[in-house]
Amino acid sequence: MSWDQVWIDINIATMSPNISEPYGAITDAALAVQDGKIAWVGKRSDLPEFDVFATPIYKGKGGWITPGLIDAHTHLVFAGNRANEFELRLQGASYEEIARSGGGIISTVNACREADEAELFELGRQRLNALAKEGVTTVEIKSGYGLDIETELKILRVARELGKHHHVDVKTTFLGAHAIPPEYKHDSDAYVDLVINEMLPKVIAEDLADAVDVFCENIAFNLEQTERVLSAAKAAGLQIKLHAEQLSNMGGSALAAKLGAKSVDHIEYLDEDGVKALSESGTCATLLPGAFYFLRETQHPPIDLLRKYKVPMVVASDYNPGSSPLCSSLLMLNMACTLLRLTPEEALTGMTRNAAKALGIEDKVGVIEVGMTADFCMWNISTPAELAYTYGVASCVDVVKNGHLVHQ
Ligand code: NIG
Ligand code: FE
Repeated sequence: MSWDQVWIDINIATMSPNISEPYGAITDAALAVQDGKIAWVGKRSDLPEFDVFATPIYKGKGGWITPGLIDAHTHLVFAGNRANEFELRLQGASYEEIARSGGGIISTVNACREADEAELFELGRQRLNALAKEGVTTVEIKSGYGLDIETELKILRVARELGKHHHVDVKTTFLGAHAIPPEYKHDSDAYVDLVINEMLPKVIAEDLADAVDVFCENIAFNLEQTERVLSAAKAAGLQIKLHAEQLSNMGGSALAAKLGAKSVDHIEYLDEDGVKALSESGTCATLLPGAFYFLRETQHPPIDLLRKYKVPMVVASDYNPGSSPLCSSLLMLNMACTLLRLTPEEALTGMTRNAAKALGIEDKVGVIEVGMTADFCMWNISTPAELAYTYGVASCVDVVKNGHLVHQ
């Protein structure tokens, strides 16, 4: 056998559904990489003979390997911050009140319109570094803080550039329909026309987005407007997803499911009919514990129903300056368990296998199986549950991306 690298003295949480152990675990394992892909995985005792003098051998000191983490919902390209609103909220104002009085998303929009690409790139790079240090190897980044043609394209270009210059893979999502910009305050339909007829064609012409998202909510876009945007995106061959049922039950999830969305995200107010709709269409349910925590939400997403109807649950950071200024995927694993009551295994599945499904890349990443891309992390932990259980002690010791050991 000839391989590019071999890992031994390891345990592996493969997260593969084909291995019946919790976490798809293989203890006393070995793993081989060839041409950027996983070439062999199994029990160390079954490892075929290979040329030990010609092959780099990495020893994991009895720690655990997991698939590289996938943060499937972020807004990490933005300028400015909203610490002032944090203070207002601590004086009693609500997220919704701040949004209605011209703050919230719109204040970040103003900062992004003023920032140039280089500035946004540097801010994004620092945030991507923070996620990468915790073992994230794929991230989704949304626009939505431009709300005009120029700035929406600028944010998406920066996101694409980050993907080219960083080892972390970046999937981009056009979220032009994130909020109604002040210029269209009294004519949101006209803004939706702009999104569909002018922004979307430009986004497509420059190949700037892998998916399209909408914020379907009473402070943003209604069902009919949501349907128009998602249908246009779908007709153009882009993936679709939705910010849905975050502050109220608008029926956005069922609509998105009907249109074949990859995921619906937030979903605190999702009801049983909505869950059934997701189950029928194979749409993932993305849980965003950072926003739940930071907005001090009390309405819990319907975890038991999602389990009952076997809807794949995803866990993501939703990193953004307004509702989740928490740039840590590992913290989300912990919060998914402590706040939303997922099991540590469900949480990790939500940031690996199910997150890959939400991004439509489940044939390449998210599990450790032969033929998958060699994106994985080495952790100095003694059980996989530790990833969700504890927080703050750096435990990601190595990251391999596309078969290359990353130095960070
Ligand atoms: O995912 N829900 C809408 N959008 C973001 C919040 C953005 C903001 O407040 O800046 C979210 O929570
Ligand atoms: Fe979001």
